[in-house]
Amino acid sequence: MLRFEEVSFGYAGTPAIDGVSFVLGKGDFAALLGENGAGKSTLCRLCNGLLKPRSGRVLLAGQDTRTVKTSVLARRVGYLFQNPDRQLCKNTVGEEILFGLDFVLGEGYSPAEREGEKRRRLEEMLDLFHLDGSRDPFGLSRGERQQVALAGVLARKPELLILDEPTTGLDYRECTAIMEIISGLNSRGATILMISHDMEVAADYGRRALVLSKGRLTGDGPVREIMGNRELLSQASLLPPQIPALARLLGPAFAGVFTVEEMLARCREKAAVLKPGGGL
Ligand SMILES: Nc1ncnc2c1ncn2[C@@H]1O[C@H](COP(=O)(O)OP(=O)(O)OP(=O)(O)O)[C@@H](O)[C@H]1O
Ligand SMILES: [Mg+2]
Repeated sequence: MLRFEEVSFGYAGTPAIDGVSFVLGKGDFAALLGENGAGKSTLCRLCNGLLKPRSGRVLLAGQDTRTVKTSVLARRVGYLFQNPDRQLCKNTVGEEILFGLDFVLGEGYSPAEREGEKRRRLEEMLDLFHLDGSRDPFGLSRGERQQVALAGVLARKPELLILDEPTTGLDYRECTAIMEIISGLNSRGATILMISHDMEVAADYGRRALVLSKGRLTGDGPVREIMGNRELLSQASLLPPQIPALARLLGPAFAGVFTVEEMLARCREKAAVLKPGGGL
């Protein structure tokens, strides 16, 4: 679905992405991790042709982003900005969700079919996110504005979804709701590349993790493998999620433990008995 080949990019001569290569297959769910300023947002903007590589190639479904129009790429790639307020531009939530749909639907609809399809997608998104289409997006909370921005992206049914910190600023309930929606899309075939500073979210939902540090790709592998590599994480100023970190402190008997369920199973295996009150 997405292929980076030795991609480099810089802003006004200052390198931001340096010789990055990786491949995302159809249906992958990759978390993109890295310190502040590592180049994560820049890498995402290279995926959909918003930025073009200074050297190397970015191929989206086999098409070179340097030669294909950004508007054509936009039909396949959905991009959620790091800050929803950069995305929102309409007076109501409904208009926001419908924005750009005409373009994405293309020529293959009669006027009546087109209106029907737009109405259907709008209703689907309002339902999915429990939104009121008549509200002014700028009267909503940060978390709600994030949901409106994501609803607008999903209404276009992209094959590749690029999410720049989709859960930042959300409370636990909002975060879980959004991640379940994204995870559902992935299980129906959408390819996901998600930047996250939240290692728990990345570990819970990503199957694969890419680590970017100072513009270079320093890690690419199954999420468990990457989260277990303390040296790699610490070089990118990242902390492992809590359960693998605890497992490490508990010693070799807990090696490989990654989830709460696995932690409990390992405790039972090691003949640890759960006492009333929750202690071991
Ligand atoms: N429009 C721009 N003009 C000039 N330099 C930029 C621009 N955007 C980003 N940079 C620089 O490029 C580097 C990578 O920035 P980028 O925003 O891609 O990092 P990031 O990993 O997304 O960081 P964060 O975690 O803070 O969002 C940084 O040094 C940043 O200052
Ligand atoms: Mg960023």
